[in-house]
Amino acid sequence: MDAITVKHVRKSFGNHSVLKDMNLAVKRGEIFTLLGENGSGKSTLINILTTISLADDGEVQIMGHPIMSDAGLIRENISLNSQTVTLDDEFTGYQNLLIIAELRLLKNAKTEIKQISERLNLTSFLNKKVGKYSGGMKRRLDIAMSLLGNPEIIFLDEPTTGVDPKNRVELWNIIKEIRDSGKTVFLTTQYLDEADKLSDHMGFLNDGKIVLYGTPDEIKKNARRFVQINVDSPNVNLVNLPEEMIISKNNKGTSFVVDERNTDICIKILVNENVSIHSVVPQENSLEEVFFNVTKIDSEGN
Ligand SMILES: Nc1ncnc2c1ncn2[C@@H]1O[C@H](COP(=O)(O)OP(=O)(O)OP(=O)(O)O)[C@@H](O)[C@H]1O
Ligand SMILES: [Mg+2]
Repeated sequence: MDAITVKHVRKSFGNHSVLKDMNLAVKRGEIFTLLGENGSGKSTLINILTTISLADDGEVQIMGHPIMSDAGLIRENISLNSQTVTLDDEFTGYQNLLIIAELRLLKNAKTEIKQISERLNLTSFLNKKVGKYSGGMKRRLDIAMSLLGNPEIIFLDEPTTGVDPKNRVELWNIIKEIRDSGKTVFLTTQYLDEADKLSDHMGFLNDGKIVLYGTPDEIKKNARRFVQINVDSPNVNLVNLPEEMIISKNNKGTSFVVDERNTDICIKILVNENVSIHSVVPQENSLEEVFFNVTKIDSEGN
């Protein structure tokens, strides 16, 4: 059984159709990352999956339970770390945790708070007012709140936005630990390196649909590939490769990145012009390139 299944989900706000035909399955016990440009509908989907808002159409199941009939049961088994931190600055970390523990009707609130605080290295800050916490500490406390009640699925909507690199790495370790303890993590992020490092599977949301899905390696492997052609000629005017074939070039005109499919034709042109080819090097695909290609392809309507 998958942790989350989404079938043909649609959601509009007035005339603005945000989710057009969303299909997705998230496996149990994995980190799934949803990527998409600002405004592509990531938080809209999270709101639907966490029973905060209703889809206009389609089916959603959480741990095999239909969201329409079992919303109460689902809420007991999930937690949401929303995009905007929702801590109360006037209360201490401990008091913030206690409020959630009480809302969740936890029997062993104190023990659970103690264990989770130790796990997330929060113990020494617990009696300070949250208003005095740094951004990274707030995020950590926010995640601690999500873990109270031992939910099966933890939704983290951009948990590392605005967090410095050192604290980001700490949060990554926490997120991996949550997954390693058998939980399912549904993550959104603005950072492609984060998605690359953390995800078991990831999906790109574009124009209301998942347009690419796979492991980070699968996605990089299946993406459009590029090669770098290095020539010995230092004079850019000597190289007459068609502009539309050049993805990028260096200032000296001695190094060109082209689509792998155009390698042969570019080499022929260079040979005909007596340009001496120094090397042809396949490029490692980065998720950045995949992301830009996905969004570019769609905006061009191809
Ligand atoms: N309650 C609402 N009423 C009207 N429009 C909304 C509402 N919620 C979201 N939208 C619109 O839906 C679109 C998707 O918003 P959403 O917040 O889901 O995007 P996102 O992918 O989470 O963006 P970001 O990366 O900035 O967090 C946006 O154009 C947004 O303005
Ligand atoms: Mg969002």
